[in-house]
Amino acid sequence: MAESGKLEGQVAIVTGAGSQEGDGYGIGKAIALTLAREGAAVVLVDQFEDRANATLEEVEREGGKGSVIVADLSDRSSIKGIVDETLSRHGRLDILVNNAAISATVSLLDTTPELYDKVIAVNLTAPFFLTQAAIPALEASGGGAIVHITSIAATRGTGGTGQAAYAASKSGLFGLMIDNADVYGKLGEKGIRINCISPGIVDTPMRQSAMRQVGLEPGSINLGEKTSLGFEGDAWDIARAVLFVAGPDGRFVSGVHIPIDGGTTARSH
Ligand SMILES: NC(=O)c1ccc[n+]([C@@H]2O[C@H](COP(=O)([O-])OP(=O)(O)OC[C@H]3O[C@@H](n4cnc5c(N)ncnc54)[C@H](O)[C@@H]3O)[C@@H](O)[C@H]2O)c1
Repeated sequence: MAESGKLEGQVAIVTGAGSQEGDGYGIGKAIALTLAREGAAVVLVDQFEDRANATLEEVEREGGKGSVIVADLSDRSSIKGIVDETLSRHGRLDILVNNAAISATVSLLDTTPELYDKVIAVNLTAPFFLTQAAIPALEASGGGAIVHITSIAATRGTGGTGQAAYAASKSGLFGLMIDNADVYGKLGEKGIRINCISPGIVDTPMRQSAMRQVGLEPGSINLGEKTSLGFEGDAWDIARAVLFVAGPDGRFVSGVHIPIDGGTTARSH
């Protein structure tokens, strides 16, 4: 069911397109549904087949189209195959959304080498090599868009116990964006626009599980108070921003980082 067909005929890869168990929608799931509603065929990449299949069922129930690729993004050898498989199933690639991530609410002093390696592998190395694999395919489609889902944890302290490896991984996505946006935007009609969307406090199953990691029950504190607007966002707030930068409305937008955070970054405290 295309809402207005902004992405009709296009093919989009969304990583982390499943959603952890919990209340509400994960961001990747909401992004996949939003792009599918605009007519894109969505390739739903997730480590967990059941999660990705649940998203595909919802896409298809709404009249959209897509397919599932099960891959563990911490395994670098699986990455090029995601783009190759997309091309063989759908014939082209127009949009890559690097959304999958693992969160770790752990301070620098408590971060083990194993935890650091895992967080960097999923949150930064996988987007790096997926971007590398996607660029030739996007060029072959006559241009396209890459969106990295980062976090305001990369641009401001989070207080509490800290998120050292997570923040470092999300910050690395800015570097991955900025140089490539300049190099691959210059290809004329085959230009590729690359942007970062940084969610703030967004009520998703991942956020709920991050709270449980530090012994807090979701709902026990009002996180909306940390925003200027006074309420928490949801996955659809992020998905609409992704549609804007990846779709035709964002045709003059490249190399920027957009916080979608209810004004949290704007606060000085
Ligand atoms: N929820 C928030 O408040 C918030 C805030 C800032 C940034 N973000 C970012 O938004 C994005 C989505 O977060 P979410 O809250 O929707 O998370 P989520 O956990 O609900 O969804 C993430 C998905 O990624 C998948 N995934 C994790 N590791 C994987 C791996 N190794 N290989 C393949 N798939 C894997 C999971 O199975 C899951 O389905 C992440 O990049 C996250 O860092 C979220």
